[in-house]
Amino acid sequence: MNDLLLRALRAEPVERPPVWFMRQAGRYLPEYHEVRAKVDFLGLCRTPELAAEVTLQPLRRFPFDASIVFNDILVPPAAMGLDLAFLKGHGPKFNDPIRGVDDLGRLKAPSIERDMPHVLETIRLLVAQLEVPLFGFAGAPFTLAAYMIEGGGTRHFTRTKSFFLHHPVAFQRLLDLLTDVVADYMVAQIEAGCAAVQLFDTWAGALDPEDFRRFALAPAARVLERVKGVPRLYFARDAGPYLRWLPETGADALALDWRVPLDQARAALGDLPVMGNLDPEVLYGPEDIVRARVRGVIRAAGPRGHVFNLGHGLLPTTPIASVAAAVDEVRAWSWAREG
Ligand code: CP3
Repeated sequence: MNDLLLRALRAEPVERPPVWFMRQAGRYLPEYHEVRAKVDFLGLCRTPELAAEVTLQPLRRFPFDASIVFNDILVPPAAMGLDLAFLKGHGPKFNDPIRGVDDLGRLKAPSIERDMPHVLETIRLLVAQLEVPLFGFAGAPFTLAAYMIEGGGTRHFTRTKSFFLHHPVAFQRLLDLLTDVVADYMVAQIEAGCAAVQLFDTWAGALDPEDFRRFALAPAARVLERVKGVPRLYFARDAGPYLRWLPETGADALALDWRVPLDQARAALGDLPVMGNLDPEVLYGPEDIVRARVRGVIRAAGPRGHVFNLGHGLLPTTPIASVAAAVDEVRAWSWAREG
């Protein structure tokens, strides 16, 4: 078993950082499109053999040091009763979003084994054959609440903010419900065999400082308090200005986007391991630039407690050759040589 990821997450000395990419499975791979031609996105998530197959696809091409179970952060809200659709080219959409306090009555507390058994089955299939650690994941309570209220992706969070400004108590009730669901869900993924877990708070950076602490950080901390036994990572996109508060989540490592200089993160966070943070769009540049930027990220992070990743996920049009070059450059790194 390749344990480089787990050693880096314990801040033990390593020769080079482990490397994996958020969204390493997906549409930039032609073999993913072949599977998707036969099944819609939610059908893919809900069919363990196929979800396991697309999880493995990137590992056959690239020598990643970790894998992440193929699934989506919006599967739990669907299990809570919301009607989720993935429209081609438009991303995820809830047809019946939460728009008023009364809508909260429609939400049920799901049982993971009964309502999302496919995720656990996919994990069991994968751990039986993987030679690298498998990440489980979930959306963080704030990001899930924002999706459930907005109904889909958005630039401005007017509905979400209007909801919590008018109805702070009801919004907190929604966060509390999601906190329970997400914690149970992560615990179940660990019991099924995941070696690490990551909480995605993709929209937390849209909040002002006060709301960030109350509605993003505090619920994330309550989730992670209940999730024990494996390294737990927290990813809040666009949260660079709140870097010094992120350790309050209690996470074992923080995933950072490309706006945060990793040498400054190191200075602010001390020994707390970090993951990241190459700008995914650097992969649209020429190979020598890709390789130089990869080295820049590694050097900035320093020799201890760094997992190489992108600052956000791979994009559907990312050139495959750039992914190969970036992974190769990380694997060629040697701290002994750089000394
Ligand atoms: O390889 C992996 O990283 C595992 C798979 C994974 C997916 N979604 C697969 C997916 C993970 C970890 C996610 C998390 C996720 N989903 C997040 C948090 C991370 C982030 O990117 O910020 C969010 C916000 C979502 C919600 C979501 N699901 C969006 C915004 C989209 C893309 C919309 C689009 O079409 O661009 C999805 C769909 C989705 N999730 C796809 C994949 C591979 C594409 C679906 C397809 O095949 O059409």
